[in-house]
Amino acid sequence: MKNKTALVTGANKGLGYEVVKLLAGSGVQVFLTARDLKKAELAYISFGDYKKNVRIIELDVASPQSVIAAFKKINSEINSLDMLINNAGINYDSWQKAINADIEGECRVTMETNFYGPWRMIKTFLPLLLKSAHGRIVNVSSEAGSIAALTGGIPAYATSKAALNALTRTVAGELKGNKILVNSVCPGWCATEMGGTGGRSPELGAKSILWAAELPDDGPSGGFFRDGKPLQW
Ligand SMILES: NC(=O)c1ccc[n+]([C@@H]2O[C@H](COP(=O)([O-])OP(=O)(O)OC[C@H]3O[C@@H](n4cnc5c(N)ncnc54)[C@H](OP(=O)(O)O)[C@@H]3O)[C@@H](O)[C@H]2O)c1
Repeated sequence: MKNKTALVTGANKGLGYEVVKLLAGSGVQVFLTARDLKKAELAYISFGDYKKNVRIIELDVASPQSVIAAFKKINSEINSLDMLINNAGINYDSWQKAINADIEGECRVTMETNFYGPWRMIKTFLPLLLKSAHGRIVNVSSEAGSIAALTGGIPAYATSKAALNALTRTVAGELKGNKILVNSVCPGWCATEMGGTGGRSPELGAKSILWAAELPDDGPSGGFFRDGKPLQW
């Protein structure tokens, strides 16, 4: 994994943080991005020996200006990006239903981060990904967004992840033949701030995500996986 580059969104805590830790530990040059630079700095301090492989960058996926500013910085530091990991996500809205949801507030805000965020990241960072000989885009989704499994509830979150899965297939199709593999991954229920207590370890969730970031060139594209095994759309 030496000489590879990666960018992880929402990486100051939870699964994004664990992904950065594993990548940096295997010698990848990682951009740990976070919407709050102070939180990124606190995360960075904990990396010990691996600090040399980690760069922190302010990046709010819900802000077009922030994404462009981050691209300019990163583009001036590297020639190509091998792995884009769209991890940032919000709002497991178990307190509302689609039939009474706050569409103009919570639902729009959720879409902005969980769906438009990854979309604008892909569009903005594509020039750097195209310069990689082995580009990988991982959209961190959730089985909660599997249309086959939807039964009602968590409407903002579930629909944002279903839309993200549609984006995965669309972008994978458009990039076919460009050496870039694009997949959605569900990390499984994990014990993070979003997942609460009782789920599996963040490290296991991070490994599920990394499986898609480290695929060989003949690996799948346009799929939806957990722990390397296909999930139903
Ligand atoms: N945990 C689970 O059980 C589970 C299951 C399935 C899927 N997932 C997915 O896995 C991903 C990571 O979740 P997690 O459990 O690690 O959640 P988490 O602990 O709540 O962490 C979420 C991260 O996203 C960041 N973030 C939120 N909005 C952002 C924005 N606009 N721009 C940049 N960063 C932003 C947060 O930053 P702040 O600290 O500033 O808020 C935080 O670093 C999410 O996409 C989630 O939907 C999680």
